[in-house]
Amino acid sequence: MKTLGKIVLMLGLVGMAQAKEVYLTIGSDALQGSQKSFTGVKVLDQNSEITVIKIDEKNIEALSHMMHEDFNRCGGFIVHESEEEAKSVLADQLSRRFAKSLSFVSYSITEGQKVNTLVNQTSELNIRDMIASLTSYQNRYYKAQTGVDSQGFVKKTWEKLAAGRTDVSVELYQHTKYPQPSVIMTIEGSIMKDEIVIIGGHGDSIAGWWGREKARAPGADDNASGISTITEIIRVLMSSGYKPQRTIKFMSYAAEEVGLLGSNDIAKEFKAQSQNVVGVVQFDMTNYKGTDNLDIVFMTDFTNEAQTKFMGSLIDTYIPTVSWGYSKCGYGCSDHASWHNAGYPASMPFESTMGDINRNIHTKNDTIDVDRSGGNADHAEKFAKLGIAFAVEMGK
Ligand code: BES
Ligand code: ZN
Repeated sequence: MKTLGKIVLMLGLVGMAQAKEVYLTIGSDALQGSQKSFTGVKVLDQNSEITVIKIDEKNIEALSHMMHEDFNRCGGFIVHESEEEAKSVLADQLSRRFAKSLSFVSYSITEGQKVNTLVNQTSELNIRDMIASLTSYQNRYYKAQTGVDSQGFVKKTWEKLAAGRTDVSVELYQHTKYPQPSVIMTIEGSIMKDEIVIIGGHGDSIAGWWGREKARAPGADDNASGISTITEIIRVLMSSGYKPQRTIKFMSYAAEEVGLLGSNDIAKEFKAQSQNVVGVVQFDMTNYKGTDNLDIVFMTDFTNEAQTKFMGSLIDTYIPTVSWGYSKCGYGCSDHASWHNAGYPASMPFESTMGDINRNIHTKNDTIDVDRSGGNADHAEKFAKLGIAFAVEMGK
């Protein structure tokens, strides 16, 4: 970070021979010093960690020197091209903090009768069948025709489950840089239409580094399991005639395996449109029981603490035989991170701890037959039950 700061600073200086005033972000702890040493430092925005300042460029060298002397930092600040860009650093940091720590709704468990009935209607066999259908494509790679076709199949499957519902629609979301679309199914809320709950997973798969368009990538666990879990949630909700008060959207994202591309496009668009997303859950890998004494493991990074805790309570209330705990990816490992980075509250219930992960993912051996998937969808069924409870208690 320190070296980066220096490079950015140098680049900034090269491009600013003419400019008089420049925009910097700087540690708030250093502000005291910089205010003392320089006249003409204008604070534009700040929080406890980062401050955005405007400063005459001829003072940058001295500021750099001061940071080095007083704070032992190389540079210690970043030069930005515009006021807008400098302020966005602060805004993004704030929205990520909100996404982690705020409660976006008042969480409560009140729909016991309805949820208990629905949670009993899940079918392991349905999930298994859907995994079989998805893995029957050579791959679901974001640039391959089979990756386009598999998303078309998800759309058709969801449409069939929603037949006859005028309040439900299923759409392909086209991305500009690659052919694979995302799939979005919307159940329009009956009362709080503007408040959106999102249940998603990625529809693409990947294997190896060469010949990807042709490579065999069954992705049974990563992530046919998640899409099949979501499909079963939809089936149970639709077959009961369930109508949420909030809007619920189910998403099969394109191009997750190559950098969360599909979900990033969607989350950024939602943010740009100021859409009110009150909860997001990501199902990515649900059918490999990697950890002996834990069924569902919640990732603690890039996720919302309050919502994740609420999901733990949903397990205790509605599927008490299911054990759960925490782990963390250590990086933005799936599409929940796209929502988190856009400032929305996300959770990621995962199939194992990070230490016990399925080693077959991203290879031709990611099939349902591996040991800890056992040729069935027993593990994924627990996630479908959790998803149903989440949909009903959040949708009210
Ligand atoms: N399903 C994985 C993420 C994952 C793997 C989570 C193992 C927890 C344990 C996902 O599809 C994936 O592979 N993500 C990429 C990151 C992404 C930014 C390209 C990864 O983990 O390398
Ligand atoms: Zn995945």
